[in-house]
Amino acid sequence: MSEKRIQIARPSFLGNEKKYVLDALESGWISSIGPYIERFEMEFARYHGMKHAVATHNGTIALHLALAASGITNGDEVIVPDLTFIATSNSVRYCNATPLLTDVETNDWNISPGCIRNAIGEATKAIMPVHLYGNPARMVEIMNIAAEHNLVVIEDCAEATGALLQGRKVGTYGNISCFSFFGNKIMTTGEGGMCLTNDDELAEKMRILRDHGMNRNKKYWYDNLGFNYRMTNMQAAVGLAQLEQLDSLLASRDAILMRYKEQLSSCKGICFQETHGNRNVNWLVTVRLQGMDFETRDVVISELSLKHIDSRPVFYPIHFMSFYKDPVFMRGENPNSVLIAGEGLSLPTYVGLEEEKIDYIAACLIRAYKKYSA
Ligand SMILES: Cc1ncc(COP(=O)(O)O)c(C=O)c1O
Repeated sequence: MSEKRIQIARPSFLGNEKKYVLDALESGWISSIGPYIERFEMEFARYHGMKHAVATHNGTIALHLALAASGITNGDEVIVPDLTFIATSNSVRYCNATPLLTDVETNDWNISPGCIRNAIGEATKAIMPVHLYGNPARMVEIMNIAAEHNLVVIEDCAEATGALLQGRKVGTYGNISCFSFFGNKIMTTGEGGMCLTNDDELAEKMRILRDHGMNRNKKYWYDNLGFNYRMTNMQAAVGLAQLEQLDSLLASRDAILMRYKEQLSSCKGICFQETHGNRNVNWLVTVRLQGMDFETRDVVISELSLKHIDSRPVFYPIHFMSFYKDPVFMRGENPNSVLIAGEGLSLPTYVGLEEEKIDYIAACLIRAYKKYSA
């Protein structure tokens, strides 16, 4: 094995990225006006069979934009999973609303419909399911609960571009869905994000709020407090090129997951997310090292690092963070989030990762697991 470190993630630019970016640069349209923005939005909406796509500068502000356009404000509660990247929950706080940190399922690691039901109260206005590590959340049950209680659903698809739930793309279930194109994501624009919706009014609100709240018919006249959340033409140029290759990027990730599964299958304590027959797009190959805890899992991370392998812990439950300690954010204990966070480990996953390296990583992981789980 070469001494070179195996990184956890790397972007793949094998298509028209350079050509389109150069074109954007040469055209002089480098900020948030330019043909690539419209093309990227149109093609991303078309890929999902949705009416509107609104591009943003990153995925976190896509979530904030979606919440703001949905009217989420001071005094409202929004149900979010406790086990997610912190942006999901923080975006609710940017609206001065209260995220309710809700437990996940131990099988698919996504927000539990049963826990959502228990969390709903008088002030609850919205649910934000997350398709964690690219594995679709139980949107059918979640949409039914939302309909019963008249709640808005904002899908956090940051990690799951292209994933399918019962044959239908994630991001087509909620009132608005939000994507991230950060450098380690399924497809990237460096930093970048997108909101999808079929609702004309919500789309118009998002477009206005994204551009400082400026009136669409009267320049430099503002009816609302807005933001500068626009994507640049250069980002969109990269995004369009990435989108053209999305299906092949996903196929490469499928092959990586399959190889890891084969190589790790002999070790019974190492398990993967259950997919319930859906298409997990394998953002990051992530496993549970059953029986481990935060401390022993971190020893495994160090051991892999000594073998020149980068790995990373699963997200800590959000309620572990000092600024989420207030009981107002919790309806009860979230034992499943704590369990998965303590056992969870993400492994190198990127297009171009060679089979030989996957085999080496799997062998090192099995050895470390056996050594420290005893
Ligand atoms: C679940 C989830 N939500 C939101 C985000 C935020 O996206 P970004 O990093 O583009 O702001 C991320 C990405 O890191 C994420 O994983």
